[in-house]
Amino acid sequence: MRTPVGVFDSGFGGLSVLRELRRVLPQVDYTYLGDSGRAPYGGRDLDTVLDFAEQCVERLFAEGCRVIVVACHTVSCVALRHLQTRYAASEQRVLGVTIPAAEAAVAQTRGHIGFIGTARTVASHTFRTETAKLAPSVRVSEVAAPLLAPIVEEGWEQTEIARLAVERYVAQLDGIDTLVLGCTHYPLLRATFAQCVPSDVHVLDPAAFVAQRFADWLARHPEFAPATGGKLRVLSSGDTARFARHAARFLGEEPPPIERVAEFRGRLTFASEENEPSGQFVRA
Ligand code: DGL
Repeated sequence: MRTPVGVFDSGFGGLSVLRELRRVLPQVDYTYLGDSGRAPYGGRDLDTVLDFAEQCVERLFAEGCRVIVVACHTVSCVALRHLQTRYAASEQRVLGVTIPAAEAAVAQTRGHIGFIGTARTVASHTFRTETAKLAPSVRVSEVAAPLLAPIVEEGWEQTEIARLAVERYVAQLDGIDTLVLGCTHYPLLRATFAQCVPSDVHVLDPAAFVAQRFADWLARHPEFAPATGGKLRVLSSGDTARFARHAARFLGEEPPPIERVAEFRGRLTFASEENEPSGQFVRA
């Protein structure tokens, strides 16, 4: 049975990965889930990230997907092995972005890679671990940048605030030749990163490489050939109007109408009410 490819992220940042997937494999059908009602994930504790990641994967399976690309670096770095162990039965696959990112960086570097991501991503050191497997002599310096995803979420990537924050973070990465953007929000700050690093440092957004590796994977796994027709569905657990406003910046095209996934007592549900509660509440 041919089904859409599922893609998920903590919010709308993963649309920057979906954009590349649609560029490389435009004929494929995709169902994207952005857990924007609970984003950002990057500063959350491990159990919460595992729990949210499970819920997103389960929801995409319930939507009929058999193959899921975890676009979120935070989830890929800390929860991918868990998701693969728990869900990747013979009929299902869960793939991540960290190994393709490490492969792209190793192919590019002259010996010293800088990696920038969320606090949880950097604390995992998963990118460094995967790079060491591919190229043990390559040095990896990592820096956590918890301010950057919220700045992009505000749409402030062209501002002085963004430039100062990027400048301050990359100043911690001395002597690198390649800078990996290890968060789905950072491609929108690419020009700012390029301004703030020496001109001979290559700024690498791994999304294009992720998409190419996914195309290679599909070619090797014809049993997982996806549904085609180029259809796109976008689901979000957050404010759908806000999601729609931001989506085009990441996706590079107008998204279809955003379908709401309501959260109830910490679980994603199949309800879709739009009402934003206001005022005070007393739990019975
Ligand atoms: N999507 C997340 C990532 O790529 C960034 C935002 C967050 O902290 O949730 O790591």
